[in-house]
Amino acid sequence: MPDYSKEINRRRTFAIISHPDAGKTTLTEKFLLYGGAINLAGSVKGKATARHAVSDWMEIEKERGISVTSSVLQFEYDGFCINILDTPGHQDFSEDTYRTLMAADSAVMVIDGSKGVEAQTRKLFKVCVMRKIPIFTFINKMDRDAMDTFDLLDDIEKELGIATCPINWPIGSGKGFKGVYDRESASIICYSDTEKGTKEGKSVTVPVSDEALLRETIGDEAADKLLEEIELLDGAGADFDLETVRAGELTPVCFGSALTNFGVEIFLQHFLNMATTPLPRKSDAGVIDPVKEGFSAFVFKIQANMNKAHRDRVAFMRICSGRYDANDEVRHVQGGRVMRLSQPQQIMADERKILEEAYAGDIIGVFDPGIFSIGDTVCAPSLNFRYEGIPTFAPEHFARVRQMDTMKRKQFVKGIEQIAQEGAIQIFQELHSGMEEIIVGVVGVLQFDVLKYRLENEYNVEIRLENLPYEHIRWVEHPETVDMEKLSGTSDMKKVVDMKGNPLLLFINPWSVGMTLERNPGLELSEFGRG
Ligand code: G4P
Repeated sequence: MPDYSKEINRRRTFAIISHPDAGKTTLTEKFLLYGGAINLAGSVKGKATARHAVSDWMEIEKERGISVTSSVLQFEYDGFCINILDTPGHQDFSEDTYRTLMAADSAVMVIDGSKGVEAQTRKLFKVCVMRKIPIFTFINKMDRDAMDTFDLLDDIEKELGIATCPINWPIGSGKGFKGVYDRESASIICYSDTEKGTKEGKSVTVPVSDEALLRETIGDEAADKLLEEIELLDGAGADFDLETVRAGELTPVCFGSALTNFGVEIFLQHFLNMATTPLPRKSDAGVIDPVKEGFSAFVFKIQANMNKAHRDRVAFMRICSGRYDANDEVRHVQGGRVMRLSQPQQIMADERKILEEAYAGDIIGVFDPGIFSIGDTVCAPSLNFRYEGIPTFAPEHFARVRQMDTMKRKQFVKGIEQIAQEGAIQIFQELHSGMEEIIVGVVGVLQFDVLKYRLENEYNVEIRLENLPYEHIRWVEHPETVDMEKLSGTSDMKKVVDMKGNPLLLFINPWSVGMTLERNPGLELSEFGRG
């Protein structure tokens, strides 16, 4: 087999997670800027120009009636080929957001320095922990008044339960932001916002050992505070250890301001040095090595069209091993056939280009005539194995679905099952009730509207949704050993089954989960369903 190690080993594939408004888009744009994927003319309009480039592409997407998100971006930087996976925030937050994390080898967590850890970050972080992937933290908006640095790190450690290791340390914040102290070189890198929007400003580097120069550069007050903080930090902080970082137990932290272009390139360089090459993945034939094995990939996301006129779907695949060649046939393992992928494309910052080849670590989108499901494996025809399934993530909002016209039962069942298969919603039935009583669960409430809209437009079925108060869902582990009838829970508990027949419990109150576990010795409950 040809050796593709050079191409594969220069790839880094990561997802960006953050709470809306922390600066994920701005940071992504700056990454693209350094990689030359976006060219900026002039300096002041930097951000607007960059955003324009991305949104233009989104307009094209809309016209073509495909999705509305820039899901994957690829760019080159310093010999690396970098794939960024976007995890949509705001109201389009859905199970897809979680699934995207299954396709990444590491995560970049963006935190607003004035806010600390926020809700959305907490949710996405759980998935990173489950996957044990490395997490790199960028504390943004240091040009605005930020929380105390020690408090910020404490917040991450307490809220997320991960140790932190500052790579650099901010000198002041807001109007008093002077730059960062780089721990490795024991020098400060000064901030100037005069070069907003262009490449990272020319930085002045001063070693802290030259105390006179340090005081002259940042002033006595900032110098005193910094020297004191360095002493505290060196005495108290966790030691840096690459293995612990790669195991997802320690997060390196950098500070900066994406908007004014400070600290972004420093962060990117540290990140690239520490992040892993495409990781091996588990399959039913053992662990698959990205370099030694032929082509293989798995489907992590299917984007169906919201537009009635074009019912096409795009399946997004993460290549896990080898090289993909658009001329070659592939085996769709779950579909049991060998075929050629239709219109394979790579999604770039501002264009979609038909792709000829791609390597382990890359993401490709292919036209899906309705044959792929989330979690499916595609590989070279000479191979035949299945990657571990993608877990089902816990929905947080539930509603009972009522059909308005009972004569259209068949379309209704077909439609709702199809939409559930695409992974936009999850459907449950009460124990023994069959399809008479359908409960739908979603990760983000927008999915309720999507369901209603699609059933009406694509299946001509009108429904009414009646919200249910459940917020906590648990899959019953080892269901073959549990008698669901006899299981005694709390008064707010509901027993249901998912589409695959797995039993689950729904609760209104979080403490009911613990109570139910107490009342049923040996019972094990999980927040993730088996894929
Ligand atoms: P998101 O993708 O995480 O939702 O955040 P986004 O990058 O869109 O940033 C949210 C807001 O925060 C934007 O302002 C952006 O300009 C601002 N921002 C991002 N990074 C920084 C930073 O380092 N410092 C400061 N001071 N602000 C930052 P907006 O007013 O909502 O948008 P716009 O009008 O600038 O487009």
